[in-house]
Parts: sequence; structure tokens; C-alpha cells
Amino acid sequence: MPEKIKVGLVGIGNCFAGLIQGIEYYRKNPSKKVVGLIHEKLSGYGIYDIDFVCGFDVGENKIGKNINEAIYEYPNIVNWIPKEEMPKTSFKVYESPALDGVGIWVENRINPIKSIKTDAELTEEIKKVIKETGTQVIVSYLPVGSEKATQFWAQTCLDMNTAFVNCIPSFIASDEEWCKKFAEKNIPVIGDDIKGQVGATIVHRTLVRLCNDRGTTIEKTYQINVGGNTDFLNMKEQERLLSKRISKTESVQSQLDVRLDDDKIYVGPSDFIPFLGNTKLMFMRIEGRQWANIPFNMEVRLEVDDKANSAGIVIDAIRLAKIALDRGIGGPIISASVYLMKHPIKQMSDYKAREACEEFIKGN
Ligand SMILES: NC(=O)c1ccc[n+]([C@@H]2O[C@H](COP(=O)([O-])OP(=O)(O)OC[C@H]3O[C@@H](n4cnc5c(N)ncnc54)[C@H](O)[C@@H]3O)[C@@H](O)[C@H]2O)c1
Repeated sequence: MPEKIKVGLVGIGNCFAGLIQGIEYYRKNPSKKVVGLIHEKLSGYGIYDIDFVCGFDVGENKIGKNINEAIYEYPNIVNWIPKEEMPKTSFKVYESPALDGVGIWVENRINPIKSIKTDAELTEEIKKVIKETGTQVIVSYLPVGSEKATQFWAQTCLDMNTAFVNCIPSFIASDEEWCKKFAEKNIPVIGDDIKGQVGATIVHRTLVRLCNDRGTTIEKTYQINVGGNTDFLNMKEQERLLSKRISKTESVQSQLDVRLDDDKIYVGPSDFIPFLGNTKLMFMRIEGRQWANIPFNMEVRLEVDDKANSAGIVIDAIRLAKIALDRGIGGPIISASVYLMKHPIKQMSDYKAREACEEFIKGN
């Protein structure tokens, strides 16, 4: 029996609600245990071998609650398992420094706590929690635009010898300086910006690769995304979006034989439509030329639950971080990052990335 993976959560929003409720869904429906999973077991670790031992947030209504309750608090909207059916845990949500985590559009929904603690007190408290709970892996699902907050948590991981899985587009696992720091301390880091299971990015990447592999030339492409949760509301603030656009655009550009000029490619979150909730809609178009310079185009509309999309990937990212810890491997875990994340330190085709990740799992 492998030991349990002790995981700390940063940003107890819809993504974590989807991850935790999803694990409970499989527990309640064992016949579905292979539906929606890339790996049922990873080096012996199953999906139930994870203990969420602490959480950190700024929401006044989440801090102090047990994790099983906090994941249902407003403005979270994932409700796959009724709240009263969720097993109780004694592990709690603690206060995190707000820094730049709370954007102007979501502030009145998050309702951040008015902290009475100094930064030093808060940092000390967080480190004490991590130590006492024996947290091995910290996963960040902070809002887009949380540069300072992400750096705070990356530094905390370095200080506490905790692996870091960075699911958001604030660059740590793809930043050379941060990678060096994680390598020097031999602590694994996987990131940045989770690539959904069958999300807009992987579909767009796969299709542009297909067009190039079949000899066509791509002239223009766009990808528009809309959704109705706090993630999309937060992304209405254009200043917070810079790194998200870089992450999503580079992920597609990296798959092209010849990069497109900036004015020939548009990839980004585009609007908030409240009644969509966690449903994300993606509209994608590719225009190109084939044999004898004859034009072609294609359009794709993808409709997907954004939170299922992310949980199906982070469940592997957590286990891969633990495997790296078990094997004493630190620094950026490139094979896991290229396969699971939009903005790794180096890019590969998704086919090669999968092969690399499988080799890593085998220990090669
Ligand atoms: N498919 C996907 O869902 C997907 C894919 C890629 C990236 N992401 C990214 O994952 C992140 C999380 O998405 P979500 O839907 O869970 O968002 P969410 O808005 O539901 O949750 C964010 C949580 O972070 C908390 N928070 C804000 N500032 C904080 C701070 N300083 N410290 C700790 N907690 C803080 C909020 O109170 C909230 O609970 C977003 O950045 C999103 O873009 C999601």
C-alpha cells in the first residue's frame, strides 16, 4: 500500500470543489472508475490515495471551515455531490495573504477577510500549518492575475521543502530563475497553467498540428472562450489577463511549423456570460491553404464543464509531483509539465509529451 499523498490547497474555488467532489463521485460509483481518468493508478497511487490536509483562501466564509464544507461556499457553484453526502474531514481552511489575488470584478463575491494579522504573523501561521499537517505537495488554483500571491506560495514551498503544482498562468515552472531555485533545493515544481482534459487549448493545438502535418499552411486562427463562473468574471479585468493570453497563445503557436504574426492569431478568454455557470464554450476557426493554394477553413464549437476539465488533469499532476518526491527528483518536472500544462518551460507536441510523461512514470 502506498502512503497517502498529503496535499495543501491554495484558492478553494470551483476547481478544487470539482476535484474533491469528483473523487467522491468515483467512490460512490465504483463501476465508473475508469471513466474520465488518464491513469487509474500512477506508480501505485490511486485517486483515493490523496489526503487534502489543509486549505488556504481569503474568503471570509471559507476561512475556519472544514475543507468538505468550504468547497460549497459562495461563490463556488460545483454541486455534483450534495453537501450533506460529502464525508466530513477535520482538515481546515486557513487564511492566505490576499496580495494581488482579488480582482475588482470578483471582490464583492469573494468578500475577502479584513485581516488583523501582520504579513509576518500570517506567514508564520501558514508555515506552522504546513509543518504540522505534513503537507508534501501544494497545489495553487489562485485567480488569474495573482502574480504576487503565486510568488508567495512558490517561496513558501521552497522554504518548507514542499512540491508545487501551479495550475495558473503566473510563471514559476516556466521561469528560469524560479526553476533554478527549485532545482537548487531539489524540490519538484509542475506548471504552469493547467491544460484541460479536452479543453480549448488541447483541441486547438491538436488541430493546428494536424493541418501542418498534412502539408497545409495556416494563415489565420482564433479561439474565443466564454463562461459564467468567477474565473471568467475575474478575467474581465484586462490588466489581469496578460499572462493568460501569453500562456494560451504560445501553447498554440508552439505547435505551428511557422509562427503566425501577432495580428493573425487571437487566443483568449473573451467574456463572462452569467447563466453559463461552469459551462465553458469555445469557438475556434482555422483558415489555411492546401494543394494548389486552394483555401480551406474549419470551425469548432466545444462545450465543456470547465471544472471537470481541470480536475481530470490535476489528479495526475498531484500524483506525479509525489512520484518525483519519492524518487528524489527536483526542479521543473518537464515531462509532466509539457503533458499537463499549457505553459511549461519547453514545449513539445502533445503526442511526444504523453510519451515523455509515460517514460517518467516508468522511471526512465
Ligand atoms: N479548466 C479550468 O478550470 C482551468 C484551466 C486552466 C487554469 N485554470 C485556473 O485555475 C484558477 C482557479 O479557477 P477556479 O475556477 O477554481 O477559480 P475560482 O474563482 O472559483 O476560485 C479562486 C479561489 O481563490 C481564492 N483566492 C483569491 N485570492 C487568494 C489568495 N491571495 N490566496 C488564497 N486564495 C485566494 C478565492 O477566494 C477563490 O476561492 C484560475 O486562475 C483559472 O484560470 C482553470
